[in-house]
Amino acid sequence: MIEKVIERLKNTKSLLVITGAGISAESGIPTFRGADGLWQNYRAEELATPWAFERDPVTVWKWYDWRRGIISKAEPNKGHIAIKGFEERFENFFLITQNVDGLHARTGIKNMVEIHGNLWRVRCSKENKTFMLLDHPLREIPPLCDCGNILRPDVVWFGESIPYEYLEKAYSAINSCDTLIVAGTSGVVYPVASFPQMVKDNGGFVIEVNIEATPISQIADISLFGASGDILPSLLKGLAG
Ligand code: APR
Repeated sequence: MIEKVIERLKNTKSLLVITGAGISAESGIPTFRGADGLWQNYRAEELATPWAFERDPVTVWKWYDWRRGIISKAEPNKGHIAIKGFEERFENFFLITQNVDGLHARTGIKNMVEIHGNLWRVRCSKENKTFMLLDHPLREIPPLCDCGNILRPDVVWFGESIPYEYLEKAYSAINSCDTLIVAGTSGVVYPVASFPQMVKDNGGFVIEVNIEATPISQIADISLFGASGDILPSLLKGLAG
């Protein structure tokens, strides 16, 4: 199976990679829908919404402060590093990550979009200006802007639209790739969940990397089941051989 994927990659002109929380699991960051995905019995869908933030910004920020604390101690793993290796190997390469942890950026990767934003960036709820806020733990919860209004994480919440410029980059990559590797996502959150089908519709080849079957397995040409930190480096190594 892996040989077939390597063969395909050897004949690939334009590679798109899509990642989700599973790619960061081996860096010690809990996934959203895994066994350790709950925080104080809340699911992500209950906290990552504009309504939850309006009702109870303190609880929402405490959740982000907890995640920021874990992420601040995490390092990119072998999966992230292999994806950076793909960027070096392919002339046309793009990464769409749903992750807000910033770990891909820390590998030095350039051609990518953090389609759900970045949890180290904050946005003024009034003025909409954005800036990085790297304090951990936060000095005040909720953190306030210089103008006195509440800051929010600059991430895309359930019920919110993905910024147009992010989508534009994503669709351009979807329309120009001939192979997609989709790694470490449960494939249930839209619009990203629809991207593999879009690649298929364009005649592209879809390779899934996950520890378990997902809805994407139904449409993938090949699913490789295992940890992304093992499989992605093997693919990169196979390409060099
Ligand atoms: N290697 C590969 N896959 C893994 C690994 C691993 N080591 N560990 C876990 N996985 C897989 C799980 O099997 C699961 O399919 O990663 C996936 C993680 O799924 P989710 O927790 O649902 O994360 P994700 O798909 O990124 O969620 C999408 O939902 O909560 C929102 O905005 C948030 O970006 C997030 C979006």
